[in-house]
Amino acid sequence: MLSHCDGTVGTQLSTPSGIRTRATGVKGRRPRPLDDGGAGGEYRCPVHEIRRFADDDFDQVFELLDTRSRAVLGSSEEERGYLRRRLDVPGTDSFVALGSGRIAGHAALGEDQEIAVCAADARSSDALFETVEARARERGFDHLALTAAPEDEALCSLARRTGFVLDREIWRMWRTLDGELAEPRWADGATVRTYTDDDGEQVHALLDAAYAGWDRDYVARGHEGWLAFMTQHDEFDPALWFLVERDGALVGCSLHWAAHQNRGWVKDIVVAEGERGRGLGRALLQHAFRAYAERGVERVGLKVDSSNPTGARQLYECVGFVTDRRYEIWTKTL
Ligand SMILES: CC(C)(COP(=O)(O)OP(=O)(O)OC[C@H]1O[C@@H](n2cnc3c(N)ncnc32)[C@H](O)[C@@H]1OP(=O)(O)O)[C@@H](O)C(=O)NCCC(=O)NCCS
Repeated sequence: MLSHCDGTVGTQLSTPSGIRTRATGVKGRRPRPLDDGGAGGEYRCPVHEIRRFADDDFDQVFELLDTRSRAVLGSSEEERGYLRRRLDVPGTDSFVALGSGRIAGHAALGEDQEIAVCAADARSSDALFETVEARARERGFDHLALTAAPEDEALCSLARRTGFVLDREIWRMWRTLDGELAEPRWADGATVRTYTDDDGEQVHALLDAAYAGWDRDYVARGHEGWLAFMTQHDEFDPALWFLVERDGALVGCSLHWAAHQNRGWVKDIVVAEGERGRGLGRALLQHAFRAYAERGVERVGLKVDSSNPTGARQLYECVGFVTDRRYEIWTKTL
């Protein structure tokens, strides 16, 4: 479900410190948020009018998120292209709250059962939450998850008063690419290459198996949606997606966003269960560091579930990543 190494280079720009998810330049047509055939028409509540998000709302919604980020974190960690991508993911329901003729709030519900709520006032956020919760029940979801910076008192307070429980933390980490970069040592028989278009399905399947193997709340995305989210934008650079094979079979991969303003980002890294503990994860990251350094990248970021039981946090620490920000994951059983 939630960010495993999630995020985007774009959202990391303003500080050494960006929340999820995760750039401008979306290529090709992707389904509109309403294409899922879900609840049509308007939702109404006693305090505010809630309606479906429409394209013309985009600027005001971005402004809301940007303002919140500056107020809560001291600088904006929002990025327009990334917001566009998130809203365009197939299966995303997106709503706005109207107040005094302006958009007073926005909420989104993804097929991964994660919600995002941002509002100028508590009444709007409550009304939006009521709407997304009702929609989640209609869609047959069994739980909801929400990511909040602990500094975001308004969002944490919404989570508390609507029955969410604090589940775990996501840490954001950075690795500065200074000094000599270690040369990767590949386990015997393992070979590395970059991604091609033909690899989409097997890479997606490897990620799903690895995440579902430990994350009880992991919700796999449909392949079309995953591919669009991962590849149909400017942050996709196949030369920075590394695949490890043994005897022609895919046994690991690390997927990295394109270098942006001298920063890189580890989007996903997984090693097949039977291949773990042989240094492949470390070698993949070291390989990526060198590729990024050749492109002039000065530091590489990622996000990790601090309680990842497969040793991801330890892997990152052992190759030099340092934590600079923490996010709380709240969940609610429906
Ligand atoms: C996390 C993952 C990629 C590690 O891959 P790996 O190839 O097994 O890791 P390596 O063998 O290169 O380990 C390198 C270092 O990481 C740490 N590490 C790796 N697995 C660990 C574990 N289970 N417990 C504690 N530390 C661990 C160790 O410090 C290890 O060094 P050491 O072997 O010298 O002690 C792999 O377990 C995986 O695919 N997990 C599921 C997918 C996932 O959650 N990915 C992370 C997304 S953020």
